[in-house]
Amino acid sequence: MANTYDAIILGAGAAGLFCAALAGQRGRRVLLVERAEAPGKKILISGGGRCNFTNLDVAPDRYLSANPHFAKSALSRYSAQDFIDLVGAHGIAWHEKTLGQLFCDGSARQIVDMLLDEGAKGGVELVCEQDISDVRHTDGRFHVKTDALTAEAPALVIATGGPSIPKMGATGFAYDLARQFGLKIVEPRPALVPLTLGGDDVLFRDLSGVAADVHARCGKTAFREAALFTHRGLSGPAILQISSYWRHGQDVGIDFLPDRERGWLLDAKRETPSSVLRSLLKDGLPDRLATTLADRLTINGDLGNVPDKRLTQAEEKLADWRFRPNGTEGFAKAEVTIGGISTAELSSKTMETKTVPGLYAIGEAVDVTGWLGGYNFQWAWASGWAAAQVL
Ligand code: FDA
Repeated sequence: MANTYDAIILGAGAAGLFCAALAGQRGRRVLLVERAEAPGKKILISGGGRCNFTNLDVAPDRYLSANPHFAKSALSRYSAQDFIDLVGAHGIAWHEKTLGQLFCDGSARQIVDMLLDEGAKGGVELVCEQDISDVRHTDGRFHVKTDALTAEAPALVIATGGPSIPKMGATGFAYDLARQFGLKIVEPRPALVPLTLGGDDVLFRDLSGVAADVHARCGKTAFREAALFTHRGLSGPAILQISSYWRHGQDVGIDFLPDRERGWLLDAKRETPSSVLRSLLKDGLPDRLATTLADRLTINGDLGNVPDKRLTQAEEKLADWRFRPNGTEGFAKAEVTIGGISTAELSSKTMETKTVPGLYAIGEAVDVTGWLGGYNFQWAWASGWAAAQVL
């Protein structure tokens, strides 16, 4: 005999844990099914172990989706402040690190414990280490089978996340299930991911470990943050952010000296003709990077001997140094997945699918992806909240 519930939620990650707790607290009998041996594994490693749980500057334009309007409703109804209040109610101390990013003072474990505590208040039944072998929809009820249990409910929530970091147990299960129910998938691709360099750019790999505060641009999108050279290419927050907008064949432009006024190099030549480019670059950039850039610009002598035109060209190049990445480090290193269950299939108010009554999708499984900096957890909380109101 199957155990009966009001809702079965698949995936005890950020979205599933939160949604289950809230639905439970609304009096629903909830079963939360997790494949891994423990819940919230990505939360535990997030934010370098301190969980960047939300961002003070959450706004819909900081999310990527085939439908940029989709996230508005959920994000406005469950705000960053709502989550901050919850964190506060649990006595979890936090701080703003940079750019509105909020981290626990202690450990990400506090967020998982908070979610489990909220779940316990709602009487959520959590089962881990479950391999889901079958999901069926008959007579308006969902039947879920694992090796160890059989359960049924009139509502099923897909909260199994995206395929980023398979080593952590991430799977494409959400997409398989969505396809089973005839739902469209927006092609998933890795996001918030390091970019790899080939061709002429491989010379920059020698700078592995060097970081600089830059302005990184791809098309019309730009981020001012740190970029890091790696043995495979480019990483660091500025690059991770831009990777979400980057497509194969596109250039990434880097302004290595975003605070220098236009014409600074000609001014330097006039003021101190005996100065050399390498030293001027070292005043603002790490030594190794300054040397590499000056070498590649082949401007080595006194500036006084270099024609103005060459200096203007060098300045322009330093302000928009073009890299042509040959790829990304893929899902193995991607913090999130862009794409997923198409928002066209879902109600933006409730996250319920339009074609299968009682079937919901929340969190990263859905084609909504935030910037780096707490935006993705806020989407997990907000979409989980939206579904929980109607389960
Ligand atoms: P999530 O991946 O959290 O949960 C899905 C759950 O479903 C997992 O527990 C998984 O085991 C389970 N599952 C998968 N397949 C299953 C199956 N077949 N059956 C049952 N269960 C199954 N974001 C942010 O805002 N701030 C941050 O600091 C960070 N930091 C960060 C660091 C690293 C290293 C990574 C990889 C990612 C981040 N993120 C982040 C992104 C953030 O972790 C991500 O957006 C959320 O965890 C998404 O929440 P979900 O609940 O949708 O998926």
